[in-house]
Amino acid sequence: QTLESRTLEAVAKLIKDGRASQIVVMTGAGISTSAGIPDFRSPDTGLYANLARLNLPQAEAVFEISYFRNNPLPFYTLAQELYPGNYRPTITHSFINLLHNKGLLLKLFTQNIDCLEREAGLPGEMIVEAHGSFARQSCIECKCPYPHDLMQKAIREKSVPHCLQDSCNGLVKPEIVFFGEQLPTQFFMNKALPAEADLCIIMGTSLSVQPFASLPQFCSEGVPRVLINQEQVGGIGSRTDDVLVLGDCDDGVRKLAEACGWLEELEEMWAK
Ligand code: OAD
Repeated sequence: QTLESRTLEAVAKLIKDGRASQIVVMTGAGISTSAGIPDFRSPDTGLYANLARLNLPQAEAVFEISYFRNNPLPFYTLAQELYPGNYRPTITHSFINLLHNKGLLLKLFTQNIDCLEREAGLPGEMIVEAHGSFARQSCIECKCPYPHDLMQKAIREKSVPHCLQDSCNGLVKPEIVFFGEQLPTQFFMNKALPAEADLCIIMGTSLSVQPFASLPQFCSEGVPRVLINQEQVGGIGSRTDDVLVLGDCDDGVRKLAEACGWLEELEEMWAK
């Protein structure tokens, strides 16, 4: 591969020629910012830059299990803003769904908890929610499930829910993965999949949280890893076949779709 071939057009050609048909996509908060959901680490607009009001020792503490155990209120103060609903998937979400409809998606690995991939129509079995989701909630002590309607109520009222088991009374938390917690088994069951991919597309993530950040390294040498992101991250660009598309991911997927001859189809799908 020469430098000139490291373009979206070259990637589109691989797809059109049928040489890329097992695509893994890896995403983070940046694919949802145009839906109106802040990411975590962007200066000024990111969630972590705007948590002064919660008086945390450091911004990430709001998602640390050890901090939560002693002080769950900051998380519940924020949970209302993080809770899924009222947001419309972006064209980037639709693009992932389009890949699936064309039989080209091997798996989506997402760090997002906003459920917008499902909202865009992607079936659950295509998604690895590496950092969990708000779909379930349970006690952090006895792991007993907690009713969904009571969780919604707690979030609405910014109150802290406790386990309903008589002798427990532990803190209840949505099953989103906090720092200090194990990722879902689903992640570990699928984490070898990138090695089977013939194309990898990474979008809207700073690749700063392990073990997710290591996923692109599992792609085989010679398999193009395309980074569509505001900034260069995670050492993508270090391999000869890496493709950097720096800028807005909605623009990036539109360009890729156009190069594949799918732009109209994509726009229609997103408009629905
Ligand atoms: P970050 O906020 O760390 O990174 C978002 C990335 O997306 C940054 O590199 C931005 O430059 C980029 N970005 C933002 N808007 C974009 C746009 N419209 N187009 C293209 N790029 C854009 O978010 P994540 O990488 O998802 O974990 O963060 C990883 C994990 O850290 C999260 O899952 C969360 C957090 O702590 C937990 O809560 C456990």
